[in-house]
Amino acid sequence: MAATPNVYDAEPIPEAARAEIDRMLQSGDLFRYTAPENAPVTLLEQEFAELLGSKYALAVSSCSAALFLSLKALGLPRDSRVLIPGFTFAAVPSSVVHADCVPVLCEVGENYRIDIADFEARLDNVQAVIISHMRGHTSDMDRIMALCDARGVPVIEDAAHSLGTTWGGRNIGTIGRVGCFSFQSYKLVNAGEGGIMVSDDADLIARAVIMSGAYEHNWAKHLATPDPEIEAAFARWQNHLPLYNLRLNNLSAAIIRPQLPDVARRVRDGRANHDYVADRFNTSTWLSVPAKLPPEERAPDSIQFNLVGLSDDETRAFAEAAAARGVKVQIFGLSTDNARAFWNWQFLPGEMPDLPQTRAMLMRACDARLPARLTRPELDMIVAAVLAAADDIMAPDRAYGT
Ligand SMILES: Cc1ncc(COP(=O)(O)O)c(C=O)c1O
Repeated sequence: MAATPNVYDAEPIPEAARAEIDRMLQSGDLFRYTAPENAPVTLLEQEFAELLGSKYALAVSSCSAALFLSLKALGLPRDSRVLIPGFTFAAVPSSVVHADCVPVLCEVGENYRIDIADFEARLDNVQAVIISHMRGHTSDMDRIMALCDARGVPVIEDAAHSLGTTWGGRNIGTIGRVGCFSFQSYKLVNAGEGGIMVSDDADLIARAVIMSGAYEHNWAKHLATPDPEIEAAFARWQNHLPLYNLRLNNLSAAIIRPQLPDVARRVRDGRANHDYVADRFNTSTWLSVPAKLPPEERAPDSIQFNLVGLSDDETRAFAEAAAARGVKVQIFGLSTDNARAFWNWQFLPGEMPDLPQTRAMLMRACDARLPARLTRPELDMIVAAVLAAADDIMAPDRAYGT
């Protein structure tokens, strides 16, 4: 039997990065604020804002840093309550705790999207909302924005792995007050580590720029072109905010910039791969890939699916059978210490929340990587292994061809 494809290797970094990195290694010019203007990090921000159609971007050390700075830039007082989905990565409640705020969790349905009724029920006493487009799955942003706008609650979009996803034709990350993206490996654009936030709000970005570590008048080096509105905001906030030093360095920007022209291709290929595999998985009695909501166009580099009609033991046996056939499938709620299972966030203040619907989903929701670079024959191998693993456990007679 041929080996199943390696789904963990990233795409090679485009050749264009090499010359720029060599130039920097020669000059030692790695710090954003050394150059008088147009440092690679500043050019990255300009290009990323243009790609998304946002007015401003601020590149930082991670998406977690972007989330933290977003909360800080909103000026939330200590102990403000921030509503987040019960299905997300531990970095999200962590950023809330880091910002001296209190995470409030809401239920997520078996389609991995926020349960809007539960979201609404919990919205009255919160001061901000972080919508995690977890694994790129987009919750109903029309309903969410209407509910939050009606109450004047600001929305931060955690688009860590949603670069390239659109909702009703709008880029994810540009619908709320601020959007945060990750450049950590296993994301659509890979710099090893890194993050970026986008916003049209000059005052919010000015505050975030200063708090990211723009000491003295270095905020001026964030401007690729003159902008009186944000310059006035910088002048207003200069010396009034702490500096958390969460900056990105020029080397990371040099690795990211040549990948931006590849985003459209990666989105197209990732979506085609995902939809091909989803259609095949949905032919199985035991597997179900939830449909997207109609306004969403996804940009997946992994696939999530639910096991239908399997007990806990059968679910574990399925994961083992898939591994034996060469495909690693993680079940969010069953793998040890999973950072996306809310009951493992034992750093949360107060009592552990009870989210029965989200818990039930996590106990049957499977996660498998599906990078955009995979070929059709490689996808076929993954599909065959997963379908056979389900049959191994649930339909042994069929597996033996009787
Ligand atoms: C949903 C989600 N939000 C935020 C983050 C944090 O991103 P970073 O590793 O860049 O801090 C991650 C990381 O994988 C994530 O999965």
